[in-house]
Amino acid sequence: MFATQDDLSSEQITPKSSPILRPRRMRLNTNLRRMVRETNLTPDDFIYPLFVRHGSDIQQPIRSMPGQYQWSVDRLPAEIKRLVSLNIPAVILFGIPEVKDACGSENYNPNGIVPRAIRAIKDIAPDLIVISDMCFCEYTDHGHCGIVNQLDDEHFTPHLPTGYLLNDPTLELLAKASVVHAEAGADIIAPSGMIDGMVGVIRSALDTNQLQHVSVMSYAVKFASGFYGPFREAAESPPQFGDRHSYQMDPANGREALKEAALDVAEGADMLIVKPALAYLDIISAVRRTYNLPIAAYQVSGKYAMLHAAAANGWIELERCALESLTSIKRAGADMILTYFAPDAVRWLEGK
Ligand code: PBG
Repeated sequence: MFATQDDLSSEQITPKSSPILRPRRMRLNTNLRRMVRETNLTPDDFIYPLFVRHGSDIQQPIRSMPGQYQWSVDRLPAEIKRLVSLNIPAVILFGIPEVKDACGSENYNPNGIVPRAIRAIKDIAPDLIVISDMCFCEYTDHGHCGIVNQLDDEHFTPHLPTGYLLNDPTLELLAKASVVHAEAGADIIAPSGMIDGMVGVIRSALDTNQLQHVSVMSYAVKFASGFYGPFREAAESPPQFGDRHSYQMDPANGREALKEAALDVAEGADMLIVKPALAYLDIISAVRRTYNLPIAAYQVSGKYAMLHAAAANGWIELERCALESLTSIKRAGADMILTYFAPDAVRWLEGK
């Protein structure tokens, strides 16, 4: 990251007459600032999240996320063409199923909403990278990220609290759904549930099903964050009881983040995600310094909503603050940014 500093003598810093060292020389004008700029955003950096739902001719605005929509599959092609024309390399898909149940079975239905969306996208844009966010919270009727401990369930475990997310039964379903999404054409599976062992089981399920070419981009470090609020409206996935603190990480823990990342690296992750980005730039930087894998960071729904809300009140400039926030994420060490600003940011960067 930052190289060690030059040694400065006190004489240079506080000279007798006028300053000798003048960093402002490097800020003289736009071109000089361009030449010495350390961090540049490009369209290559962006991964754009899309919400897909059943039905036809639907482009349903998400109230807390201005400019973001839930799309029906028939309306995707036009949106995908727009993203391709903006040179955005990848999208990540979130599905809103028609029916939910205790085990989120729509997530492993080969004709479920995400597999259908993947096929529709690949039909018109075979080279666009399609990432499937792999989690059960959108698909379960209780809104948790896997199977929870319930009295009437075959997995009921008496010595665990009711409502506790059951790790290993959830792993089996994650493996099954990942194969379904990969067979539909997903290039990358991105498990986001913070289930212990998720990367390993997904990797081996893909490998035993001749899907060795499909990568795993793991949400290795995902905090239990209040900044996911608007997303839960967008994906219709709020937990119906309790919260996600027994599987997502405590926002206070930085060392534990490196342990989570280490496990996912050992289990075969190809790329790591840190989420959220905004309040966790120190974590992005630590993961970057520790691992050589590509690192992505998620500028989450709450950050997008905050910037829009403040801008709508005339309190900040949207373009300037959004680009500043994205730059900070890249400067911290992210190679890629999952962001709802992707199309806007490309237009802003290219002055369109
Ligand atoms: C679900 C998932 C969440 C987000 C991405 N995948 C929500 C959650 O964990 O509650 C949040 C994204 C955002 O806030 O933009 N597994």
